[in-house]
Amino acid sequence: MGYRPTWLEIDLAAVSRNLDRLKSRLKSSRTAILAVPLRRASGTELKPEVLAVVKANGYGHGAGPVAGHLYRLGVRWFGVSSIEEGISLRSQGIQGRILILGSSFPFDASFQAAAKYRLALTISSAEAGRRLCCFAAKRNTPISGHIKMETGMQRIGARPETCLQIGRLLKECPKIKIEGVYTHFADARDRAFSTGQLVCFKRGLVLLRENGIYPQYIHAANSAASLRYPESHFDLIRPGLALYGGMPGFEPAASLKTKIVFLKKVPAGTPVSYQRLFTTQRESLLATLPVGYGDGLPIGAWRRGHVLIKGKKAPIAGLITMDMTMADVTGIAGAGVGDEAVVIGASGRQTITPNDWSAWARMSVYQLLCGFGTPRLPKVYRCAKI
Ligand SMILES: Cc1ncc(COP(=O)(O)O)c(C=O)c1O
Repeated sequence: MGYRPTWLEIDLAAVSRNLDRLKSRLKSSRTAILAVPLRRASGTELKPEVLAVVKANGYGHGAGPVAGHLYRLGVRWFGVSSIEEGISLRSQGIQGRILILGSSFPFDASFQAAAKYRLALTISSAEAGRRLCCFAAKRNTPISGHIKMETGMQRIGARPETCLQIGRLLKECPKIKIEGVYTHFADARDRAFSTGQLVCFKRGLVLLRENGIYPQYIHAANSAASLRYPESHFDLIRPGLALYGGMPGFEPAASLKTKIVFLKKVPAGTPVSYQRLFTTQRESLLATLPVGYGDGLPIGAWRRGHVLIKGKKAPIAGLITMDMTMADVTGIAGAGVGDEAVVIGASGRQTITPNDWSAWARMSVYQLLCGFGTPRLPKVYRCAKI
């Protein structure tokens, strides 16, 4: 730890428990959907595997340490957003399959890196398929591709007919393995819309199968779909948020902690922080905490938010600044410089979750967590018992 007493503590045991919770919900849905008998020789049904989504620096938790931990727990698939994130995972010693969930553009540079670092690519246009075939023809290294099918997200994804075109192209290239076909839910909370996406996906899969294209892995489900739609589990689920505990029923893995570095008593009527949006209503004891929006705290949370000191709520006083935040500790007996302040996490009987902060700031919990990935916020990993 550096000189500034502010850190994000990641409880890897919570990540383990979240993984277990997800795995306990897994059903094999491929058999039902594609009528492909997916059974081991012993006759036991295969359960889908987990592809842990660790993009955006592991949703702010540190992609390398989280992926390393999950690998030790048996997870063999990781999803990142870009080639850079894939290379970064490899450089941190992460084994297993790494799927780049973003686009493979610029083509040749992406293909080169994929071959060098054993990264699986997302292929979502006929042009990408053609360029990949040309690239692979000149090389000895095999490359794996996952065809991304558009079913309702309108981000990157090819219509089912284009997926067939891509599939036909890739199938002709001996160096290319069509490792997967996948889609992504746009709003997994909406059953009707998600069912529509699934229907479209299944139609596309049947089209591929009728034309002799049998990808090894079919996948669709993010965290919410993994919980709500067992029929979307196929061969792999791709959870992100649930692993980090950002969903109801899961344990937040990250705690954000700091210490009081300064205390002052001010009279009633004292304006506090930038723009003087907050004014003390009584004589107040204000604690200054060395944490701010530069560490990922959302400015907009100040009106509703609090931190925990000695197990008690200390309301945020005034606008959160880049590096510091003031908290009202008037009611907290004995509060002093050096006392720990829990910004996210538990203190005594009180707990503050990332979802509390996102509600206070009226922002997405995804965005909140990703903000903590800033390199300026040190990460401390509590080791799990595996
Ligand atoms: C393609 C893809 N799959 C899976 C996920 C994981 O989603 P969630 O964090 O909601 O589980 C994401 C996240 O944005 C994604 O983009």
